[in-house]
Amino acid sequence: MVPDPYSASETPVPAGTIDLRPGRPWVRYYDVAAWRRAWRAAGERPPSDLASPYGLPRLRELLAEHLRRARAVPAGPENVMVTRGTAHGLDLVAAALLRPGDGAGVEDPGYRVAREVFAARGGRVVPCRVDEQGVIPAGLPDGLRVLYTTPAHQYPLGGRLPIPRREMLLGWARRTGATVVEDDYDAEFRYDVAPLPALYGLDPGRVVLLGTLSKSLAPDVGVGWLVAPPDLLHEIARVRRRLNDRTSGPVQEAVSTLLARGDLDRHLRRMRLEYARRRAAIVDVLGDRIRGDSAGLHVYLPLPEPRVAPLVATAATHGVLLDTTTRHHHGPPHEHGLVLGYGSASLPDVRKACTILSTLLDRP
Ligand SMILES: Cc1ncc(COP(=O)(O)O)c(C=O)c1O
Repeated sequence: MVPDPYSASETPVPAGTIDLRPGRPWVRYYDVAAWRRAWRAAGERPPSDLASPYGLPRLRELLAEHLRRARAVPAGPENVMVTRGTAHGLDLVAAALLRPGDGAGVEDPGYRVAREVFAARGGRVVPCRVDEQGVIPAGLPDGLRVLYTTPAHQYPLGGRLPIPRREMLLGWARRTGATVVEDDYDAEFRYDVAPLPALYGLDPGRVVLLGTLSKSLAPDVGVGWLVAPPDLLHEIARVRRRLNDRTSGPVQEAVSTLLARGDLDRHLRRMRLEYARRRAAIVDVLGDRIRGDSAGLHVYLPLPEPRVAPLVATAATHGVLLDTTTRHHHGPPHEHGLVLGYGSASLPDVRKACTILSTLLDRP
């Protein structure tokens, strides 16, 4: 059988190996009592025979409040749809907006799933350059129907899009009629920097914001949200009805309880501290070699191209698994280096792996 290159996240890493590849959050610190309470509450309610494509009204209300508080996003429940996560939200947006051959902009390097989803929905994927600050608005072509972007923490280079670029980007979208799809996947985690306004907050008419519990709680929960102007939300709801597509009601009930009781906020506070310690360890050991460390769960370490592959191979012999920028490009790679994730390795392991890496980097 041909091995599936995308199945890495389904396989546990061998004992003694430290996994610094990005993508997985730390799921071991969840509050067991709160989790059980949420599921008991969900179990009190019989499953419904009505599955609204918008999601449970209570959860939409709670998510709107959470987004207003945590991200200063000016959204009411009428703007919020409950999804099964970012990939699902992207697929719904693409199904509602893309016609065969429509230009679909993606960051390059960027999130592979966005490219796959747009292509699967018939879009013509157009790579859009990013640098260490994020997507470069001046380089965006006309004629895109949608543009996917990660302004809070560019995936994988880690930039936070500065305000003037945010404004230029929205100016471009207004001028060309494109819809901006803002992936806010790890915006809850930010270190030593002031928050920047979400694109959605700057121009709610031009932007769809996608959020997820995959980073803040666990990918396995399968809940996210999509925030959009009501007209677009209704269009997306029509797509969901057509496809008989829904988000599990009992799961939405359990998540509602986690939000309503403040359990999710408490979990986020705890994880922010934990991730901040790991990020501090990386900065401590690798210093100014790294970029993109002000948010999220990964950093970028640029390197001359010929050094990358040998370094990954040598690190593996020392029990450290590394990811590179290569697979995140749409075409031939133009950014070279390592993408270091600290979601799934403990603090001592992060420090140990970075110390090994630092020694390897110091070798000629
Ligand atoms: C850029 C980016 N967006 C979103 C997600 C989460 O996606 P989902 O909510 O579909 O699990 C990830 C997960 O690794 C990601 O890397």
